[in-house]
Amino acid sequence: MADKKASDRHAALAAEIAEHDKRYFQDDNPTISDADYDALRRELEDLESDFPELADGSITSGIGAAPSGAFATVEHPVPMLSLNKALTEEEVADFITRVRRFLRLAADAPLTFTAEPKIDGLSISLRYENRKLAVAATRGDGATGENVTANVAYVAAIPQTLGEDAPDLFEVRGEVYMTHADFEALNTRLVEEDKRPVANPRNAAAGSLRQVDAAKTGDRPLQFFAYGWGEVSVLPADTQEGMIAALKRFGLPVNPLTRHCESLEELIAAYQAIAAERAGLAYDIDGMVYKVDRLDLQARLGERERRPRWAIAHKFPAERAITELEAIEIQVGRTGALTPVARLVPITVGGVVVRNATLHNADEIARLDVRPGDTVEIQRAGDVIPQVVSVLKDKRPEGTEPYVFPDKCPVCGSQVVAEMNPRTGRPDVVRRCTGGLVCEAQQVERLKHFVSRAAFDIEGLGAKQIAAFHAAGLIKTPADIFTLAQRDAARPQGERLVNREGYGETSVQNLFNSIESRRTISLRRVIYALGIRRVGEISSRVLALHFKTWDAFREAMRLLAIAADERSTRNEGVAAGTPLDDLPSWSKDAEEGQGVRAELAAIDGLGDVVADALEAFFGEHHNVQVIDDLSAEITVEDEVARAVDSPISGKSIVFTGSLEQMTRDEAKARAESLGARVVGSISKKTDIVVAGPGAGSKLAKAQSLGLEIWDEETWMERAKHA
Ligand code: IVH
Repeated sequence: MADKKASDRHAALAAEIAEHDKRYFQDDNPTISDADYDALRRELEDLESDFPELADGSITSGIGAAPSGAFATVEHPVPMLSLNKALTEEEVADFITRVRRFLRLAADAPLTFTAEPKIDGLSISLRYENRKLAVAATRGDGATGENVTANVAYVAAIPQTLGEDAPDLFEVRGEVYMTHADFEALNTRLVEEDKRPVANPRNAAAGSLRQVDAAKTGDRPLQFFAYGWGEVSVLPADTQEGMIAALKRFGLPVNPLTRHCESLEELIAAYQAIAAERAGLAYDIDGMVYKVDRLDLQARLGERERRPRWAIAHKFPAERAITELEAIEIQVGRTGALTPVARLVPITVGGVVVRNATLHNADEIARLDVRPGDTVEIQRAGDVIPQVVSVLKDKRPEGTEPYVFPDKCPVCGSQVVAEMNPRTGRPDVVRRCTGGLVCEAQQVERLKHFVSRAAFDIEGLGAKQIAAFHAAGLIKTPADIFTLAQRDAARPQGERLVNREGYGETSVQNLFNSIESRRTISLRRVIYALGIRRVGEISSRVLALHFKTWDAFREAMRLLAIAADERSTRNEGVAAGTPLDDLPSWSKDAEEGQGVRAELAAIDGLGDVVADALEAFFGEHHNVQVIDDLSAEITVEDEVARAVDSPISGKSIVFTGSLEQMTRDEAKARAESLGARVVGSISKKTDIVVAGPGAGSKLAKAQSLGLEIWDEETWMERAKHA
């Protein structure tokens, strides 16, 4: 019989696992690593095997979490299963033994497997009826998922129709995932828009697919690999390998790294080969899945507790290491966000030397109760910034105190606040320095942003040089960049830039030339370069297109700030109950400013949040001063009306495959200058698809949607009419 200790532990584990399941499956926001999660599950499973009466099946057989309610639900006619896991070679050997025993196969009777990479994304079921995609659903709890058919229409990798010889009814199962490159681009964009970056590609894929506004899925490039099936009218093959070949033939993307294996040794060799290739893959995998190849054997083996007996996931160990945390430092970002960073005694994790790890925010530090001097476990997953996953409390030196998050900016001493998050209405987890440009850290970060790629993009003046010039007192504000040459010339010979380490006559001249070449700049770049919170590249373009000229933009912002200012004096300075007639009247400027605000809030893609951010930014006198000074130095080009008579003006266009006569970036820029909108993925709303050699599923999708498709020749021909 289970004693009280065992049953209490079982209950506690079950509750903890259920909570993590909810965070992982429902909120797309796991708070522990896969390895920690697996450890909890193993402990629970071990307890249940020691004390079978504890196993009520609630956790060990439950898969995922029920749908969140934001989507319509879909019942899976054939349940979507989970997999048993193996961490060691012995556990894989045990799996093979179990399979042989179950099938009563002699130890030397042939038994073949497939070894497939285990894609770290989210599983999905795609129901094709008469070769047309009818329903797409997430796994949910395995029995009921969420209907994401509308979202999937924006995923170019998932065909809307299958090839002619596909069965009449075919439920395809596979994994939706995001590549590392797309994940990074998404996070760069989120950060630029002052939104919180996503923790990993899996969460990014899940969050992107489950956008309530389906069109938003189209802004997030998702990929897909098919590896299984649910309900089918006729099975097109009798082995797993044959099925994968059939899926491919019907037009579905399948993973090219799948191997055919005939023994434990071959499975392990496949595992090791893929593990060695793993770092170079474009997407995350967290192990291998071994499946009995013959479908008749799969059917005989069946399932137990919603896991097939004919398959197992052989997981890769997480890349982790233990080291000492020397200090917690606070970095201050461009918009004042305070990010705690753990300084570590350097250690190699998965072949990379790690010196720093992120601690995310004050809440995370409190949750871990991490203190300087602690021994910590860190984890590095793919290209993600290493993170502290746990603290080895028994190794804690005596006399340490819980870390107190600073309430003053460590750089400028200004007050630190947790702002209200306009989306949630709750205080944000991020603490911010309120110093604005008074804060040297924010100054430097804003300057770095000012010269970044999508902003002024000044060759020879990157983040490193900005930091050095700032420290030397040579560049404190954006305008200083443009007076650098003049000020340098006025200095005595011995103090000029040419004497700085790393510089010489030529490099200094090159730097001055490249600064000079950016003195004339487009409106959208200037707006973006200002580094206003929530005004990323996209909003900057929208604002530029709306206001057209720099003067119009600045005047509107001046009026906006006046309106905001008067609004707050009315709210604060007037006693409650004052009769309306006694309220101070709006100034004419403020009235116009109210109009600007309404105008901004109504622009598609901006709204109140951006309007608030602009108000806050232009309400700060020092920001306006910086802009006035900059204005005196640069020439801002008007946002020119698009060439309306070009053949692609106003059209949405997708480039796929490789182009031979120009780079993608070039083609994109050209299309935009001709008034087209370049988008990443194909949907019914796409007007033109330019397909170069190697265009795969996007081309297939364009064909199936009956879109206009151009080859590179046609594109070059039409693009000439610039
Ligand atoms: S087979 C009945 N094959 O892993 C078999 N799953 O832990 C069910 N996954 O829910 C899945 N790559 O989301 C299978 N090649 C692969 C996979 C794979 C990734 C995921 C899938 C599944 C989870 C199970």
